[in-house]
Amino acid sequence: MDRPPVWFMRQAGRYQARYRALREKYTLMEIVRQPELSAMVTLWPVEELGVDGAILFSDIVVPLSSMGIGVDLREGVGPVVDPPLRTEGDLKRLRVLQPEEDVPYVLRAIDLLVKELEVPLIGFAGGPFTLASYLVEGGPSRSFLHLKTLMYREEALYRRLMDILAESIARYLLAQIHHGVHLVQLFDSWVGALSPEDYRRYVFPYTRKIADAVAAAGVPLIHFGVGTSSLLEAMAEAGGDVLGIDWREPLGRARGRLGSKVLQGNLDPAVLLAEKPFIQARVRALLEETGGKGHIVNLGHGVLPQTPPQALLWVVEEVHRFAERTGWV
Ligand code: CP3
Repeated sequence: MDRPPVWFMRQAGRYQARYRALREKYTLMEIVRQPELSAMVTLWPVEELGVDGAILFSDIVVPLSSMGIGVDLREGVGPVVDPPLRTEGDLKRLRVLQPEEDVPYVLRAIDLLVKELEVPLIGFAGGPFTLASYLVEGGPSRSFLHLKTLMYREEALYRRLMDILAESIARYLLAQIHHGVHLVQLFDSWVGALSPEDYRRYVFPYTRKIADAVAAAGVPLIHFGVGTSSLLEAMAEAGGDVLGIDWREPLGRARGRLGSKVLQGNLDPAVLLAEKPFIQARVRALLEETGGKGHIVNLGHGVLPQTPPQALLWVVEEVHRFAERTGWV
């Protein structure tokens, strides 16, 4: 491509009137379990926004619900696991994912999409720490105290859990690749809760294993987390061809720290609640930090439900305008 690509995390979702209308009829899990529906939702923002990538419509907790664990995606709350998984006995409920048997509907949606799409399809999985956080905390958490307690007090049990997750995530991504996704993103959204030392000790080996499996399959991996300013070097070393960066870390500074690594991000999703000139100025400033080189334009986290749909169009427009001005196209 002769200009920086642009797409959005959560580019399909509640900010769209047609998504909200569909959700009146179906739960998120019902959409995900019907390949025609999830493929349709995946395609909407590609048509509406002219983005350069489609992200498969699903959720990071979808495979967990097929690994022996009951997960409920509660509106306005997030994933809830009841009872949570905290003891040796609890861990016996969890088994390694067999993607073709356990999540055939996800793979079928990919089959449908690769036939239809003219832009790359992005597959994804939750990162091991982030999935462990939902399993052990039982739901969203700010402090991750149950997970950290397990990590610090019962390291062997924690490592058995992470082994099962890493193996499942690797198999899940490989199955998506086998069905034709063009690149994959690992959403380890909550690793920013750890110090660099603890990241290296408790997460790095599992992420490395997943990244090595994806690299062997020859497909690019985007490695993403939130609030990870102090972890960027360690995350880059753990794996991924592209590192997702949030707005707390200026891209120019990330570039200085990471050398040639391709960067993805990093507009604050809240910027899209501002007026058009403000949004466009922020997009220009972002592109000036990287010169548009080695840069996939995105937000630093997912699109907020309050976002006016035109704001996303303005971002795409401004990326195209930057490319014209700088003689890229
Ligand atoms: O990006 C995309 O467009 C693809 C679809 C996608 C969803 N979730 C759909 C979804 C992706 C990639 C995810 C990833 C995901 N899910 C993450 C990692 C990225 C991140 O946000 O950090 C996490 C932590 C989750 C867990 C989760 N699922 C949360 C915290 C929520 C929000 C709860 C709420 O209602 O506010 C969900 C629900 C969810 N997953 C929605 C969507 C579009 C919300 C809308 C709905 O319930 O229909």
